[in-house]
Amino acid sequence: MGITLWDDMMKVNFPKDFVWGVASSSYQIEGGVNKDGRGSTIWDDFCAMPGVIADGSDGAVACDHYHRYRGDFALMQSMGIKHYRFSLAWSRLYPDGDGELNQAGLTFYTRLLDALDEYGIEPMVTLYHWDLPSALQARGGWANRETAYAFARYAKAVFAFFGHRVRRFITHNEPWCTAYLGHGIGIHAPGIRDHAQMLDVAHHLMLSHGLAVQAYRAAGFAGEIGITLNLNQVYPETERAEDILAAERIGVFHNGWFLDPILKGSYSGLFGEVFGKMPAAIQEGDLEVIAQPIDFLGINYYSYSVVAHDENSAHAKTRNVTPHDRVTDMDWPILGQGLRDLLIDLHQTYGKVPLYITENGCAQIDRLEGDRVHDILRINYLSEHFVALSDALLQGVPLLGYYAWTFMDNFEWGYGYTKTFGLVYVDWATQTRIPKDSAFWYAELLRSFDH
Ligand code: FCB
Repeated sequence: MGITLWDDMMKVNFPKDFVWGVASSSYQIEGGVNKDGRGSTIWDDFCAMPGVIADGSDGAVACDHYHRYRGDFALMQSMGIKHYRFSLAWSRLYPDGDGELNQAGLTFYTRLLDALDEYGIEPMVTLYHWDLPSALQARGGWANRETAYAFARYAKAVFAFFGHRVRRFITHNEPWCTAYLGHGIGIHAPGIRDHAQMLDVAHHLMLSHGLAVQAYRAAGFAGEIGITLNLNQVYPETERAEDILAAERIGVFHNGWFLDPILKGSYSGLFGEVFGKMPAAIQEGDLEVIAQPIDFLGINYYSYSVVAHDENSAHAKTRNVTPHDRVTDMDWPILGQGLRDLLIDLHQTYGKVPLYITENGCAQIDRLEGDRVHDILRINYLSEHFVALSDALLQGVPLLGYYAWTFMDNFEWGYGYTKTFGLVYVDWATQTRIPKDSAFWYAELLRSFDH
């Protein structure tokens, strides 16, 4: 398959106010886990379990962004970055998840937002990027319906603190990962393997999203609120009906699980077949709450799948036959065109909801040579995906912006520090930030759009 790389001509397809930014999340960069009254989270607890993180590390220090955010924002500014997506650590504001506010946590995020203002960078704030307060996990975590109400109270408080100065809120980041990786196969916090619980967790996450959107509307702010889902473009291996159906089933597993309730107010008709049962947690009226109108859908896109029907496979009777000729250091197959197809399909299937790419990027093995990192694979990856954005815009997809994952190397969950996605290299011994070639390339692109 031919690969099309970015060409300046493609710029004409981008509207003037298209948002270009970078993304991060609290546990992956902040460190300062015991600072100023922050409560423990399920990721602190998970990392303490033996053998679960590839290099035995954790986010206790990470990029020490807690103490270095001003320097990080200065570097963003020097790269011409004007938009930044990051998440709040719930347990800095509410150490027990519910109840008493930690004033020092509020001060921290207030100062951080002040600093962003000073550097001319507009925030997009994610309320939940996986770091559930441990105190809530002790009461059952997302398997307990009460956690959805606790999240709604936390969200309401955040809107009251920051709703007048933050224009874009995301309720959840990738609830699929919390449900499947965290409760289905147990490779993410809280490390549970329980199929029935996984289905309930997903349902409660969506319920909490809907409740938070209601709280935002009730407060009457003029900004935007949405949710971020990790979506995977699924293709059938052949045009045979059974392969097409196999692709539909895997599409429900990867995408429809969350897209259908949130955007259509119902679970897919294939849900029972794919997951074996419906979530026990569903209560009357839940789907109306879950399907509150949102202002945008955030999409995290990294990879794609090709699947074939396989009668003997336990995984929804499908076999994964995705080519592995082009992969990132995560072993994730690369296909920029998948992003274009995904955007166009989404637009056709789910209607006119505006879209942001809230994450997209590439892990590669980075080598520091002098003070440079020649990360050509990452530049090619981004370039190929920017072509997809251009194509999708040309096809009339209401795409409002793009946030690259990620600003700087950070704690990559179960992989610890062994996988790097940053535009900026971090020397862990000294916490020095060293822009990679991709950072210069991205900066140049943003500058050229400014003209
Ligand atoms: C996404 C996560 C993000 C990061 C990237 C590589 O699933 O949202 O935190 O780990 O993958």
